[in-house]
Amino acid sequence: MQLSERIKPLEKNVFADMDTAKTEAISQGKKIIDLSLGSSDLPTSIHIIKTIEKSLSNPENHGYLLHGGTAEFRKIVANWYEKRFGVFIDWQTEVIPLIGCQEGTAHFPLAILNEGDYALLLDPGYPSHAGGIYLAGGKIYSMPLLAENNFLPIFNDIPQQILTQAKMMVLSYPHNPTTATASLDFFTSAVEFCKINNIILVHDFPYVDIVFDENQPPSILQVDSKKEISIEFFTFSKSYNMGGFRIGFAIGNPQLITALKQIKSIVDFNQYKGILEGAITALTSSQECVSETVKIYQERRDFLVTELNKIGWNVSIPNATLYVWAKLPEKWQKDSIKFCVELVKNTGVALSPGAGFGNNGEGYVRFALVKPPDILKEAIEKIAFFLNS
Ligand SMILES: Cc1ncc(COP(=O)(O)O)c(C=O)c1O
Repeated sequence: MQLSERIKPLEKNVFADMDTAKTEAISQGKKIIDLSLGSSDLPTSIHIIKTIEKSLSNPENHGYLLHGGTAEFRKIVANWYEKRFGVFIDWQTEVIPLIGCQEGTAHFPLAILNEGDYALLLDPGYPSHAGGIYLAGGKIYSMPLLAENNFLPIFNDIPQQILTQAKMMVLSYPHNPTTATASLDFFTSAVEFCKINNIILVHDFPYVDIVFDENQPPSILQVDSKKEISIEFFTFSKSYNMGGFRIGFAIGNPQLITALKQIKSIVDFNQYKGILEGAITALTSSQECVSETVKIYQERRDFLVTELNKIGWNVSIPNATLYVWAKLPEKWQKDSIKFCVELVKNTGVALSPGAGFGNNGEGYVRFALVKPPDILKEAIEKIAFFLNS
């Protein structure tokens, strides 16, 4: 059997190797403390669940949805964005519901790239960004994110010959995995750069609410308020602990929204209407549940960073996201995958190897703050034992 060429880059998957190591650890009777996935352990708020529950018994919700979802959902989203960022959004042409940011960002390149066109991606970056480019037959130019540049790309380092073949750039701040944040000035330079070079600008923005000591992180559409070249992706997974429900949306340039809708119209039939209704409840109710979630992540962040420092692993304190991006001790600098595989096999503690997010992630591991402090403490004791043995 011969499979397509385009699937080849997807065959090598660090996270699958981690899964195998986890399974092996379980088979040896180890208790797994899984800090490798950014999947929240916190429950979806009861008022959101109640809306979804109620929708289940309404037969009107049981059929297919059209690809714009419901007008009500798009109106609420446009309203939410306008209130939050002060930019007018046309709910009829500039909003589309998604089955999560991952689905949206992975399908979007199919609407943009021809075979061999370049996409400019952050390295390290979220795997669906690269995966979507591979599926669309595009080529990737990696923009290195280095600690000395605050994990922001340097646009002027991109070679001219790449720029002439580049059709899209993907940014994502607050950033997974490095936890870096970007300023409005940085976004202004990104929009200018993309306009000059005729490049479509994608901003994946799942951590819009998950920020600690800072003000509201900026949106790309605050700079490109006429939506000339940009599209921004949002999700309910992080703010409302709704990862399993698979619901998000994109806002942006109407031509890009229509193009994404056309791709999706042959791939899926949209999210279940009851979940759209739950998402409406999420956006229109008190945001107390979001503040509570952020507070919990902040406490876990403080706890984890302090305890890691106590065992001699000095990591800096993140301002955003539900991760800690930790530079590995000297001995493991060159092989984050080996570190994570050995760690989970020996201790049951699962972290994400930095190399899984791109070449520039090597030398780091990512902790997800998805367990309470007592479990984080147990994990750190096991890590300390592993590092000293
Ligand atoms: C940058 C980024 N994009 C997308 C996703 C996936 O979001 P969703 O659950 O909406 O698909 C994540 C989740 O960790 C993420 O970090």
